[in-house]
Amino acid sequence: MKYNFDEIVQRQGTNCIKHDELEKIFGRKDLIPMWVADMDFKSPDFVIKAIQKRVQHEVLGYTLRPDSYFDSIINWNQKHHGWKIEKEWIAHSPGVVPAINMTVKAFSNPGDNIILQTPVYFPFYDAVKLNGREILNNPLKMVNGRYEMDFDDLESKINSRTKMILLSSPHNPAGNVWRRDELQRLGEICLKNNIIIISDEIHNDLVFNGYKHTPTASISENIANITLTCMAPSKTFNLAGLSTAYVIASNKEILNKYNAELERTHIGLGNTFGITALEAAYNNGEEWLSQLLDYIQENITIVVNFFKKELPKVKVIIPEATYLIWIDFSAINSNSDELNKIFIDEARVAITDGRLYGEEGNGYYRMNVACPKSVVEKALGRIKTALANHQ
Ligand SMILES: Cc1ncc(COP(=O)(O)O)c(C=O)c1O
Repeated sequence: MKYNFDEIVQRQGTNCIKHDELEKIFGRKDLIPMWVADMDFKSPDFVIKAIQKRVQHEVLGYTLRPDSYFDSIINWNQKHHGWKIEKEWIAHSPGVVPAINMTVKAFSNPGDNIILQTPVYFPFYDAVKLNGREILNNPLKMVNGRYEMDFDDLESKINSRTKMILLSSPHNPAGNVWRRDELQRLGEICLKNNIIIISDEIHNDLVFNGYKHTPTASISENIANITLTCMAPSKTFNLAGLSTAYVIASNKEILNKYNAELERTHIGLGNTFGITALEAAYNNGEEWLSQLLDYIQENITIVVNFFKKELPKVKVIIPEATYLIWIDFSAINSNSDELNKIFIDEARVAITDGRLYGEEGNGYYRMNVACPKSVVEKALGRIKTALANHQ
């Protein structure tokens, strides 16, 4: 079956954050939304059918997770990453961000240091700060157009209060697929210093040809022993509204501490439709995902070629994964407040100001291209016209 990602699905007026909160976030409604990380594509037909079948039963009471739910997670991870996990290692969360917040509470105390490698997904900052912990910033280095981890900087900053690292792998916003050797070196530093790795791997399936996602915990038994992995089918299959994620930890002590935190707020029960959707997605998702990745790769190529040809001063960091593109506009204007005005009021495109991801993001924007090609082309045309007046 050939899926049609060119279809424009009207999302306005469906209580959809990406379209219906434009005015609240950007100050006007008439923008092409390329910001929050969900897709303008329909969720896969096999997921919708599974949910419809479940609805037909007409009783929506408390729901357990059957063995088949765990099997689908185990099989998907084995098939996609060669990572062998066990049912007993899996725990639950209504989302990856809630899971990260629970790990901060479970594995650190107020005043402890938590490592962030910036620029990075902005809820990581809140997870540290709003829980009364301190950020230990280990900024990524830009080397030949790709971010790299700065291990020397990290080793020089680790102190007795450094308890955890929040790792984004693949990386949001820059789209790095961290290589095995990079993760191994990071893991060894954490092992040496008794630091727990919280590996947010929500984008693990959205990896392009030529790259391979390595689950941090799959590198060695020792590294698995200090790692808690967060995953979800939500980015891959556009299911974020179903609030269904899971965590994996082979170390019983780590998993028990996480589960104790989950119990304290009693939010481990799960969502009936989320459970159904995860299973349907992981059991049937191969072909859909493969076509989706080809489509997103084409959108990325359109963006890369556009800037190369039309606005060569703009530097595009080519993503190795994710449908998010990290773009450096600083050569056009180094003042992000002025750039915001150009994008919003002139181009009328909602892309995310890079400063949200840390001060390293000044002059950068994150563009979400999980939308029909025609929308990407329209947005680029508007950016070209708007920037023509500001060169
Ligand atoms: C790196 C990363 N982690 C977590 C999330 C969100 O996770 P959830 O909606 O499951 O809380 C996102 C969404 O953009 C993300 O990019």
